[in-house]
Amino acid sequence: MASEAELILVIDAGTTSTRAMVFALDGTMRAMAQRPLTQHYPRGGWVEHDAEEIWSAALTCARQAAAQVGGADRIAAIGITNQRETVVAWDRQSGAPLARAIVWQDRRTAGVCDALRAAGHEGRVQERTGLLIDPYFSATKMRWLLDNVPEVRGAAEAGRLALGTVESWLLYNLTGGAFVSDATNASRTSLLPLTSGQWDEELCELFGVPLAALPQLGDNAGPLGTALSEWLGAPVPVTGLAGDQQAATIGQTCFAPGETKATYGTGAFVLANMGAAVPRSAHRLVATVLWQLGGERCYALEGSVFVAGSLVQWLRDSLGLIDAAAETETLARSVPDSGGVVVVPALSGLGAPHWRADARASISGLSFATTRAHLARAALEAMAMQTRDLAEAFAADGATWTTLRVDGGMSANDWMAQDLADVLALPVERPEFIETTALGAGMLAALGAGLFASLEEAGRAMSGRRRLFAPAMDQEVRNERVRNWHRALANV
Ligand code: G3P
Repeated sequence: MASEAELILVIDAGTTSTRAMVFALDGTMRAMAQRPLTQHYPRGGWVEHDAEEIWSAALTCARQAAAQVGGADRIAAIGITNQRETVVAWDRQSGAPLARAIVWQDRRTAGVCDALRAAGHEGRVQERTGLLIDPYFSATKMRWLLDNVPEVRGAAEAGRLALGTVESWLLYNLTGGAFVSDATNASRTSLLPLTSGQWDEELCELFGVPLAALPQLGDNAGPLGTALSEWLGAPVPVTGLAGDQQAATIGQTCFAPGETKATYGTGAFVLANMGAAVPRSAHRLVATVLWQLGGERCYALEGSVFVAGSLVQWLRDSLGLIDAAAETETLARSVPDSGGVVVVPALSGLGAPHWRADARASISGLSFATTRAHLARAALEAMAMQTRDLAEAFAADGATWTTLRVDGGMSANDWMAQDLADVLALPVERPEFIETTALGAGMLAALGAGLFASLEEAGRAMSGRRRLFAPAMDQEVRNERVRNWHRALANV
């Protein structure tokens, strides 16, 4: 049993759900609360969230989780982790959001991005920020809000505008006014150079984002503010802050260069630790900050796939093909193969390594013999195929994977974990506790509160055992899968 105030509360504000978990310093989860987040799709390609709902869900979950362990007196520190790139605009005086948050999946700025690329800006942006020009990243969403929402423009003119990503919105509310972001989240905006600790004037000008509206920048661990006592019943320091994919990489203890993880949540995000030297991708991956501690950075190469678990959710909620996500595993096992069906899940365009904002999803190879089991299997198979495209890009960039550590809700599917090992022809490791995003934020918060001396020490104390999936697929079967996938991909 942990002693007084030796637990860590983590708020994990994801794309489709908000969660709070309480961890002991040995990494065991002591409490958990969860709420779904409403998705708003006002037009094709647009995805929005209600920023108030993000905050109230986070607060409700945090309160519930804290109550489950006996109250805030037992919480030594708070860590925050979040869906990245999603933009919130709010009034710094009233604290009220000025528009719906524009979610990372939103494609409304595709035209602006095309124009910036056509004007020849991508090379410079990639060189400075590690990112490509795509609606995925925050800067063009910020500009869109300024151009299209009079309240946002008015607040900017009055010097009251706050433009932040989800971590800064949560921290602002939790602390009653601290306007702070961290290097991992900031490195997803297109406004932070990989080699600088501050927002860049030239990039702000290029994207049309007023520097004065952006938060202060800091480390991923250390004193970031204090949660007001009115929220949890006692003031609790916030000492960890990181984007969810970086947090998951930390939670997977990818502390040495070359160590790589893939998180299968709403999307699928592969990050490889690249050490202290700024990585450069020549194969359409992005370079990003993995963590910043004491002003020193560790970098990652990232492959971002926009659709993973959201495909299964779509099969369930929009098509009614399944009743529950877990059913896909039983269905996939019930047939020997997908019967020639290939799903290309470009429901919000294609991310890495293709970067085709205009691509739309396809289901091909249908016949009268096709059953829902084939469709479910093809949907799961698409995860391994998308990951394989990334594996090739990472290898071409000199970051060949030797094993892949997987996590996220969808990785609980044993069939999918095995299929990944088979298609990648690599050992795949899955921790017994798959909520590594929250665990990684817990490690950062514990480090930031001085409960561990280093990230490595936090990792040793808090991480658990892993299960291994060894590749067992025939090379011919693998080749056939790859051929079919490329054929389908060429047609979207
Ligand atoms: O870049 C988007 C990513 O941070 C979203 O993560 O876990 O909500 O799919 P998730």
